[in-house]
Amino acid sequence: MEAKATAYSNIALVKYWGKRDEELILPTNPSLSMTVDAIYTTTRVRFDEARTSDAFRLDGEPAGQDATRRVTEALDHVRALAGTRVRAVVESVNSGPTAAGLASSASGFAALATAAATALGLELDDTQLSILARRGSGSASRSIHGGFVQWHMGVAPNGHDSHGVQVADEKHWDVVMIAACVNAGAKDVSSRDGMRRTVDTSPFYRGWLDTVDRDLENVRRGILERDFELLGSAAESNALKMHATTLAAQPPFIYWLPASLEIMQTVRDLRGAGVPAYFTMDAGPHVVVLCQPDDAAVVDARLKELPGVTQTFVSHPGPRAHATRVGE
Ligand code: PMV
Repeated sequence: MEAKATAYSNIALVKYWGKRDEELILPTNPSLSMTVDAIYTTTRVRFDEARTSDAFRLDGEPAGQDATRRVTEALDHVRALAGTRVRAVVESVNSGPTAAGLASSASGFAALATAAATALGLELDDTQLSILARRGSGSASRSIHGGFVQWHMGVAPNGHDSHGVQVADEKHWDVVMIAACVNAGAKDVSSRDGMRRTVDTSPFYRGWLDTVDRDLENVRRGILERDFELLGSAAESNALKMHATTLAAQPPFIYWLPASLEIMQTVRDLRGAGVPAYFTMDAGPHVVVLCQPDDAAVVDARLKELPGVTQTFVSHPGPRAHATRVGE
């Protein structure tokens, strides 16, 4: 009853921003991401009849209460499917960038769902795995698959049709994503709280909902037709719109730091100088820059020159989540 899984994180090109059901984690809009090969989590889950509670170690240390409670809740969904109440020891290790505060919940909950289901001998298809991952963290639903992945929002009240579907695999097209990390402490407003506050109070949220389908269509077409400018411009505009909704929330909030704006300006300058590069940002101050393989070295060098950038991580389209049973 033990398994080990690795799942790769993903960066959304069209963001998931808002829930219609907080308990089931059902989104108010569809989203689309690229799974990234340089940011991942490896998780080992061992179920043990003798245990009375779950234990969670993250990067070699016992995790805090909140993180452990979220792991227990995610395990409960897997246990319910397997018809068992047996408790587990979970050990997760994040690759370097997640320690810098980048997209760890997507790879973390996708790895946990995959490892736990495998350890309990469940033979689940990708849709079932994606739904399990979604119950841990919405964006994790996309990290079950490799390459380019759409999270179909679904319409069913129980969420059975709300899961990731691959749009194109990792060999389809080599898009480069360079994560430029800036110096930041713990987030003031988590993505969970930020999206809730925006849905509840931002008058700009309506504008987000009214235009997200069009962004999705452009990003999808950009990927399928390998049209980098279409993909990049639609992704950049979608990210800016997401962040605009936070400015009009009550109370207002903003994820950007001065260094984030400096990176955005640098990307626009590169574009002005003829290097096709675009940016996107999640619910935090780091900026992810999209470019093509031939330009990656130049773009990475420019980002590293900026005083506000602490480190960069260069990713290509990454593979699907995978698990192996241990000790059998
Ligand atoms: O899955 P969560 O709860 O960490 O939310 C992620 C939200 C964004 O990163 C801002 C957008 C996205 O689609 O990943």
